[in-house]
Amino acid sequence: MNEPVISVKDEVILVTGAFGLIGKQLCNTFLKEGAKVVLADINETAIDAVEKEYGALFDSADFLVIHLDITNEESAAKAVRQTVGKFGRLDVLINNAAIDAKFDKEGMSKVNHSRFENYPVELLRKSVDVNLTGTVIMTQSACRQMLQQNSGNIINVASTYSIVSPNQNLYDFGQGVENFKPVDYIASKSFIPNFTRYIATFYSNNNIRCNAIVPHGIYNNHNEAFLHNFSKMSPLGRMCNREELDGPFLLLASKASSYMTGSVVMVDGGWTAW
Ligand SMILES: NC(=O)c1ccc[n+]([C@@H]2O[C@H](COP(=O)([O-])OP(=O)(O)OC[C@H]3O[C@@H](n4cnc5c(N)ncnc54)[C@H](O)[C@@H]3O)[C@@H](O)[C@H]2O)c1
Repeated sequence: MNEPVISVKDEVILVTGAFGLIGKQLCNTFLKEGAKVVLADINETAIDAVEKEYGALFDSADFLVIHLDITNEESAAKAVRQTVGKFGRLDVLINNAAIDAKFDKEGMSKVNHSRFENYPVELLRKSVDVNLTGTVIMTQSACRQMLQQNSGNIINVASTYSIVSPNQNLYDFGQGVENFKPVDYIASKSFIPNFTRYIATFYSNNNIRCNAIVPHGIYNNHNEAFLHNFSKMSPLGRMCNREELDGPFLLLASKASSYMTGSVVMVDGGWTAW
């Protein structure tokens, strides 16, 4: 039988921020598709539960659950060592970990909703440390290994807010409270597309590719007001189901995308198209 065009079978894939919404979705999909997956996350207390959860679904020979803090150089180097220790190499790094102060179902409690002029600079520094500096640190560690292998593939997870400004009307939940998507996320994620082009061109002679995916609005039990606003502003008129990310990530993680590097792939329901 012919091999499928898009295959990640036996690819060794390290996913950062693996315990979160998108990370979990991707790790499940890669494992189902026959990849070897390293689930890496800063959330130490969840490690046992994640190990149990995946152990019930997949062969423990095919995955590894580890602690990783992408802002710490030793931790990033250790994650690569652990990956190579178990699977012999690192084929694909998915830079997925990030801080994103989400709006919760009730409205605001997980977000600092100050207007821009009052936004605490400490929170900006924190997001830059994780979303920008942490992504660089993790990529450096992976590239050292990929250079030794003379092959590698890096996928950065961007955001529509890497490309365009948030329409703050999206966060008007009509409760007489002013809500704003804060600047820390926009500043730190805007770096991702050009970083992707930097890495793609820097390593173009080393058989290391680098591309980015731009997701937007992954549905996660959002409140009615948010869903209503979102549907009016989105060309496709709805949020993204998490499994709709599978195809684009599988494409970029597989050799079917061997001529793609430096690409920034929109998976945003057309959000940035108007
Ligand atoms: N959810 C969306 O709608 C959406 C839309 C566009 C882009 N994104 C991007 O997708 C990626 C994943 O988002 P998500 O919604 O799954 O977020 P999430 O908050 O559910 O998961 C993020 C994970 O990253 C981990 N993490 C945080 N800091 C870390 C660190 N220093 N080292 C290692 N791990 C760390 C967290 O513990 C968490 O498990 C992010 O890059 C985000 O910017 C998400």
